[in-house]
Amino acid sequence: MEWWQAGVIYQIYPRSFRDADGDGVGDLAGIAERAPYLADTLGVDAVWVSPFYPSPMDDFGYDVSDYCGVDPLFGTLEDFDRMREALHGCGVRLIVDLVPNHTSDRHPWFLASRSSRDDPRRDWYVWADPAPGGGPPNNWLAVFGGPAWEWDEATGQYYLHSFLRSQPDLNWRNPEVEAAMFDVVRFWLDRGVDGFRLDVAHFIMKDPQMRSNPPAAGPVAGTKDLKGYAAQEHLYDKGHPDVHAVFRRLRRLLDGAGRPVVSIGEIHIDDPEAWAAYYGERLDELHLPFNFRLLYAPWDADVVGGIVDDIEAAVPPGGWPNWVLGNHDEPRLATRYGPARARVAAMLLLTLRGTPTIYQGDELGLEEVPIPPGLEVDPWGLQVPGLGRDGCRTPMPWDGGPGGGFTSGRPWLPLGPQAPTHHVAAEEEDPASALNLYRALLRLRRAEPSLHGGGYARRDAPDGVLCYRRAAPGAAAATVALNFTAAPRVVDLPAGAVAASTGMDRAGERVAGATALGPDEGLVVLEGAQPE
Ligand code: GLC
Repeated sequence: MEWWQAGVIYQIYPRSFRDADGDGVGDLAGIAERAPYLADTLGVDAVWVSPFYPSPMDDFGYDVSDYCGVDPLFGTLEDFDRMREALHGCGVRLIVDLVPNHTSDRHPWFLASRSSRDDPRRDWYVWADPAPGGGPPNNWLAVFGGPAWEWDEATGQYYLHSFLRSQPDLNWRNPEVEAAMFDVVRFWLDRGVDGFRLDVAHFIMKDPQMRSNPPAAGPVAGTKDLKGYAAQEHLYDKGHPDVHAVFRRLRRLLDGAGRPVVSIGEIHIDDPEAWAAYYGERLDELHLPFNFRLLYAPWDADVVGGIVDDIEAAVPPGGWPNWVLGNHDEPRLATRYGPARARVAAMLLLTLRGTPTIYQGDELGLEEVPIPPGLEVDPWGLQVPGLGRDGCRTPMPWDGGPGGGFTSGRPWLPLGPQAPTHHVAAEEEDPASALNLYRALLRLRRAEPSLHGGGYARRDAPDGVLCYRRAAPGAAAATVALNFTAAPRVVDLPAGAVAASTGMDRAGERVAGATALGPDEGLVVLEGAQPE
């Protein structure tokens, strides 16, 4: 197995992980400093670090003005090298975030592109004339609200921006754009990275005829409510099939790196078959198209079990699944489901077949931090009320000191009401903490071939319980039973010993046949294992 199959990925949002220089914003030196936390305390195998490149920070780094540098807020390229060495020194792989769909409007490429219609870089972005009767070329909308077209007075054309107007979309139909972006990939490969997470990967190819989108048929169950953006069916403004050829070429580049380099795509596609196409017909595109289905799932054993079945069926033979329960764009896991269920969800995430990605702070059971009106900073929330992402992006509390051990300065977002109690130092001491549950599950997953590499089979279970068995040849099989309800349940389990329980109080217990599950309780049983 490859490292990105057997391992667990941890997402770092660098602004909020650890601030080493005291300016209130996290930095690369802070990540380097906490490499032992990642490797030893927690026990993850890789980190994906959200963008740290030079940026005007309109979208907190997802508006890049130089793909081959480090924003002074986060440090220098030398700090990047030190961070990579610190992580690699602890055995933690490093995945960087590549933002291929758009740049900042202050990127030199865009400055050149908008300088004149004759500039050699004009066609690096998506420019279009007004519609015949005037106004924007078509009805495309920006995810972050409003039309996706911005009028450029000086050159008399519109440019496309699928997100903020300061995030113009690159034109991937121009081979020079692909060549430039592949040079960026080579730059970071030469600097020793182990993978790339591709931001809104499927957005890069649009309908060449730029047809208007039809209206949406209606809300789709189990997806995020994107408000005004959801009024259209996004047939033409993203995900054109030509995107697959780009990913095949990217994959060849990565495969030539001389070491296993992973490609992970942010692909928000709900239909499992359409989503699975991003593995490539010959498994020659993305290693892991992010699977976001659990992010929007109601807490229901049948629904969640059905999603797992759908994904298991959709992943092509030889492809590897992956699971996500939180990231820097979504409300916190512990807020969506509540603290008790979030622990059951953690057991689900870390015992399914496929690579889990943990979002920083979810291992502490952090909840969404309420940001008072007027103090919100996320541009999405400011443009589309209700969709702000600040509450999941607040700093990591490390200890009970001032600034929560995150910063000696004034944190860029408040740490929130949980910080005085739910910090790393306190949770390390509390045997039943969320942190210790994550640690136990991570250790178990790493130790047991059935859990990090085995097959998946659903088992019969009473109403409200999801039960499955993970088995690998020559290794003890693991059976996982998750009670999604707040009432006790009895589940039929094979003979074995409890290896982990969400309450951290049943490990070692011998079970066989009818077994009691407490409310909101999950168990992992290793078959045939002797009690400790
Ligand atoms: C992705 C990122 C999000 C960003 C957007 C635009 O969805 O995860 O944080 O705002 O792309 O780059």
